[in-house]
Amino acid sequence: MKVVVTDYIEPDLNWESAELAKRGVELVYHQLKFAPIERVVEATRDADVVVVNMLPITPQVVAGWEKCRLVIRHGVGYDNVNLAALEEAGIPLCYIPDYCAEEVAEQAIALMMACGRKVVWSRKVLDESSARGQWDFAETVPVFRMAGRTLGLLGCGRIGSLVYRKLKSFGLKFLIADPYLSAERKNELGIELVDAETVFRGADFLTIHTPLNSETRHIVRAETLRMMKPTAYLINTARGPMVDAQALAEALKQGWIAGAAIDVFDIEPPPPDYPLFHAPNVVLTPHLAWYSEDAAWRIRELILLEIDRFLEGQPPRYVAKKA
Ligand SMILES: NC(=O)c1ccc[n+]([C@@H]2O[C@H](COP(=O)([O-])OP(=O)(O)OC[C@H]3O[C@@H](n4cnc5c(N)ncnc54)[C@H](O)[C@@H]3O)[C@@H](O)[C@H]2O)c1
Repeated sequence: MKVVVTDYIEPDLNWESAELAKRGVELVYHQLKFAPIERVVEATRDADVVVVNMLPITPQVVAGWEKCRLVIRHGVGYDNVNLAALEEAGIPLCYIPDYCAEEVAEQAIALMMACGRKVVWSRKVLDESSARGQWDFAETVPVFRMAGRTLGLLGCGRIGSLVYRKLKSFGLKFLIADPYLSAERKNELGIELVDAETVFRGADFLTIHTPLNSETRHIVRAETLRMMKPTAYLINTARGPMVDAQALAEALKQGWIAGAAIDVFDIEPPPPDYPLFHAPNVVLTPHLAWYSEDAAWRIRELILLEIDRFLEGQPPRYVAKKA
């Protein structure tokens, strides 16, 4: 059996090679993200399992495969894989949605704290006061106590529910919108649900943890930003296209909201003229909410687990479906 990796972000795949060799499986790996399609087809033609990170798996690539029976996407999202082509070829797409929920929840909380306590922005006050030889705190005012404030959550799945659980002891109030949460899960978490508009209107911190789909694309736009309190902060660690970046830049300039912290962008990486680079009161991080050394190893173990399941004739734990 042969596993072909089309592209990878690890320094090397020696660990995977050794593990698969113990199982009598051949591993061949490439960095084909920017390679011409003919090279991709050639490299993957005789694979039984294809593991892909960012490379586009197009219908032309799939058409070149002689015996592939499983594609594993290294990560949560799978918009670089043409699902229709895989479905037509009868090949399931396995993805790994559960390796970094802790990290993304931690990042959302870190960004929320950074906004609430003005951690990043107050450095300017320090530098200017240092140059002047005298404190001047005018630019950091106002800061509000976080205890007693309201955290709005859009989406209460793996990551949203972790944010909720981790922050329960912070003395916050919660407004949570998730129209698809099962009654069982809602009871298990012990939460009440509200609609999205109530979250927009009532949140002091609003953090997004929904999937990207036609319902959530631009869920944050001029209309919903105008519903928010002028003292509120927006946090997005989910997917860039959920926020209309132009409208958010305008909201920050006009003071419709107090600030934002954003890890994900509708164009990645965002170009130098991306509107949020020039907006005030914004903390930006480079789509690294998923990352920790622990998560980076966890996904390697989970991909190996999926190959083991495949060898045992078991279905993948998570199979991608068309939105
Ligand atoms: N920044 C990063 O590095 C990073 C890493 C991993 C995941 N993510 C993103 O985080 C987001 C959440 O991931 P997850 O693992 O918690 O997903 P999940 O599927 O476990 O949870 C999503 C929740 O959103 C709810 N939902 C769906 N549509 C909704 C709507 N219109 N309004 C409110 N709630 C809605 C669902 O019912 C579900 O409970 C995803 O967009 C994912 O792509 C980002």
